[in-house]
Amino acid sequence: MSRLNINIPGLSLKNPIIPASGCFAFGQEYSQYYNLSKLGAIMIKAATDQSRFGNPTPRVAETPSGMLNAIGLQNPGVDHILEHELPWLEQYDVPIIANVAGTMVEDYVEVAQKISKAPNVHALELNISCPNVKEGGIQFGTDPTVASELTKAVKAVSSVPVYVKLSPNVTDIVEMATAIADHADGLTMINTLVGMELDRKTGKPIIANITGGLSGPAIKPVALRMVYQVAQAVNIPIIAMGGIHRTQDVIDFISAGASAVAIGTANFQNPMICSDIIDELPNYLDEHGIDHILDIKGRAFKNR
Ligand SMILES: Cc1cc2nc3c(=O)[nH]c(=O)nc-3n(C[C@H](O)[C@H](O)[C@H](O)COP(=O)(O)O)c2cc1C
Repeated sequence: MSRLNINIPGLSLKNPIIPASGCFAFGQEYSQYYNLSKLGAIMIKAATDQSRFGNPTPRVAETPSGMLNAIGLQNPGVDHILEHELPWLEQYDVPIIANVAGTMVEDYVEVAQKISKAPNVHALELNISCPNVKEGGIQFGTDPTVASELTKAVKAVSSVPVYVKLSPNVTDIVEMATAIADHADGLTMINTLVGMELDRKTGKPIIANITGGLSGPAIKPVALRMVYQVAQAVNIPIIAMGGIHRTQDVIDFISAGASAVAIGTANFQNPMICSDIIDELPNYLDEHGIDHILDIKGRAFKNR
């Protein structure tokens, strides 16, 4: 398996395949299908300081080549995750990337400080796409200065490297990435794109929240373009996600400059997807005469 191993801050990955946050819960359900130790890492569901029920239902809708969700960060709270979910995951030989969310800087700092101390948490992923409802509705994920300050504050208290998850709902993704890269150890990208869908019979929005986040194959070209642009602008590693559902998508994101990838929505269609792609990757390398998966990293823009 050494042809697939990846070393990035805090993470020694057996292979570049990671289930994306919110699409794998804490792994229990998927552990019935395959041994979770097979994965490169696991990005667990978002943790907030208090438990959250999330948004009212309906909160998911199917769209052509994608899905909309407005789950609203439903989770049992950081203390429960530390007491129950993370200890359960310790039976697997797999690094955990803890997804941290909040409404104010202080929430992120508190959760990051606590969860980064768990023995199997090797990195944090900051979900900065939620609105800051404290004052004036500032979006952490759309203001480069606010995002950079948040990253700095979390980095100061975290015991493990900090990756920041970029929102695609911005006009200039490179501006966001470069502002954050001054303080972050890595980037993960992209989160979902804001969208909506109407009920055919009533003409009204299907999702109770009106809008939701679009994910799945429909967003891959957007994600690929953003990874390609950001990889040329920053010197920290990128874990890429957005519409990956087959081996070729993994190859494309690494070619565009990513060091590893995460798979989200595709897990709902095929719970074996991460395992299947891990099995297929060595065949791809053989067929294309590639020694190590990272030999193709950034080839989309190198020597152009
Ligand atoms: C149902 C659902 C829940 C999600 N929950 C989270 C979350 O808690 N934290 C987060 O950072 N991203 C969350 N995401 C975003 C995914 O991690 C991922 O960035 C996005 O779906 C794009 O990848 P994909 O097209 O492979 O799904 C969620 C996505 C879906 C579909």
